[in-house]
Amino acid sequence: MKKKGFFVCIEGLDGCGKTTQAQLLVGKLKRIGFDAIYTAEPSSGKIGQFIKKYCLHGEKRISVVVEALLFAADRFEHVVNEITPALNNGKIVISDRYVYSSLAYQGAAGLDLEWIKIINKNAIKPNSAIFIDVEPEIVVQRLKRKKSVMEKLETQRKVREVYMTFVREGELVKIDGNRSKTEVAEAIFAVVSKQL
Ligand code: TYD
Repeated sequence: MKKKGFFVCIEGLDGCGKTTQAQLLVGKLKRIGFDAIYTAEPSSGKIGQFIKKYCLHGEKRISVVVEALLFAADRFEHVVNEITPALNNGKIVISDRYVYSSLAYQGAAGLDLEWIKIINKNAIKPNSAIFIDVEPEIVVQRLKRKKSVMEKLETQRKVREVYMTFVREGELVKIDGNRSKTEVAEAIFAVVSKQL
């Protein structure tokens, strides 16, 4: 019989702690005997590398349509090359960002959410989608050292608003990220372990 994998994505504003939390979740799942792996978007593939080099840290933001298309292309490769094979091997895949990042970031930049959904049609649906909610004012403070084109307060506020529409629609489970690392990790684990 084919083993069944389980796919989780962790979403949130830049600086909300999602990378730390995704890795803590992988560690916790492994300790209790699951075969879990960490992965992220932009991916480590060719398109992901291109995005990191030319879209996120350049002088100015590129066209948002191009951004959305590149993220969708990177995601398709991520799904085909990494996520699906791991799921087919029965693994739990924890992705640090997924399709909701495109909806939130490129949607906040003015693109039609329905169009973003269409270009991401081939991205498989996660079994569990978590949104770590931290106030935009707080993440912007945390990110002062790090520079990226997405990190202005106004941008982060809009991004959060789009994430919240998916929380209200029941697609994303909101976790209060304004707590200690351990408390946030416990809350995420409680949600995911219930669905496993
Ligand atoms: P981030 O997780 O912050 O990466 P880093 O490891 O460099 O901190 O993601 C990089 C940025 O990419 C972040 O600002 C959000 C943005 N992004 C989009 O705009 N759309 C997308 O579809 C994805 C996956 C990321």
